Amino acid sequence: MTILLLGKDGQVGWQLQRSLAPHGDVVACGRAECDLADPDGIRAVVRAVRPTLIVNASAYTAVDKAESEPELAAQINAHAPGVLAEEAKLLGALLVHYSTDYVYDGTKTAPYVESDPTAPQGVYGATKLAGEAAIRTVGGKSIIFRTSWVFGARGANFVKTILRLVRERDQLGVVNDQIGSPTPAALIATVTGNVLAMLRRGQRLESGENRLYHLAAANPVSWHAFACAVLAQARQTQGFELKCGPEAVRAISTAEYPTPARRPANSRLDCSRLEQDFDLRMPDWQPYLARMLQLLALKQHGY
Ligand SMILES: NC(=O)c1ccc[n+]([C@@H]2O[C@H](COP(=O)([O-])OP(=O)(O)OC[C@H]3O[C@@H](n4cnc5c(N)ncnc54)[C@H](OP(=O)(O)O)[C@@H]3O)[C@@H](O)[C@H]2O)c1
Repeated sequence: MTILLLGKDGQVGWQLQRSLAPHGDVVACGRAECDLADPDGIRAVVRAVRPTLIVNASAYTAVDKAESEPELAAQINAHAPGVLAEEAKLLGALLVHYSTDYVYDGTKTAPYVESDPTAPQGVYGATKLAGEAAIRTVGGKSIIFRTSWVFGARGANFVKTILRLVRERDQLGVVNDQIGSPTPAALIATVTGNVLAMLRRGQRLESGENRLYHLAAANPVSWHAFACAVLAQARQTQGFELKCGPEAVRAISTAEYPTPARRPANSRLDCSRLEQDFDLRMPDWQPYLARMLQLLALKQHGY
């Protein structure tokens, strides 16, 4: 099987290079090989590679910046997935795509299920939702995974931001009224691989079938609790310069930390559909955090 992976250098894309490899020949593209802002370029790449599977891990992910660049965010997050879906349909290929918890407004008190109404609060969430709709409208075979709060050793994320801040500051304020599941990029890639393995073994998608799944780690927390967990774990891992630990992280409200884009207060995703359909169980994010910090510590020491 020939697999076209887009976004190979992102957090999830980097991990997918590993988890897709056992499924076939992976043609991995970054921005240089395939710019998602260029629909003709996208079509040319797909037509040259002729994949049986397209995995799109590239996206415009700068949530706040998207508020001032709505057109570019829409090109990458909304229009490009539609183009990919059209090209996949022409080839009879499956399209795997990723979306976000930010399609919800966060007012629900329980975890969100896939059939809940969407109501994005910002440009990023709105463009990601439009991308989902574009894929569905084309009507080829597709799987969309909505995930949340992605972290990993490669790429930019909340964990790295906290570790950077505590090199300079002896106290921090982090919001405690937004709840979600930190989700390891490695877990997203592994689950994607597992789902593909089950589909190849017989659980095939009908032509025109579009599946939507929540994919997030277990054990949702607030950003504040996540920051505290990062610092507690970093303290146990040799090699981090820490001017403060979890006790110096103050819990603040979203109102005290205004950002250009509004974010959902409740980002919890119920993953039962994914777990039932593919006989999986979403694990806790904490062991992944420990491994990430060990890896970062080794890197700092030049290993
Ligand atoms: N990060 C999160 O917390 C989060 C949460 C929920 C859902 N998601 C979704 O999960 C998926 C993977 O996210 P991630 O965290 O792995 O994102 P990421 O680390 O920001 O990676 C995104 C990748 O997309 C590439 N990209 C951006 N604009 C492009 C363009 N015009 N043409 C080609 N490539 C372009 C980036 O390339 P450059 O490196 O060149 O910029 C980057 O490699 C995305 O669909 C995202 O919306 C992420």
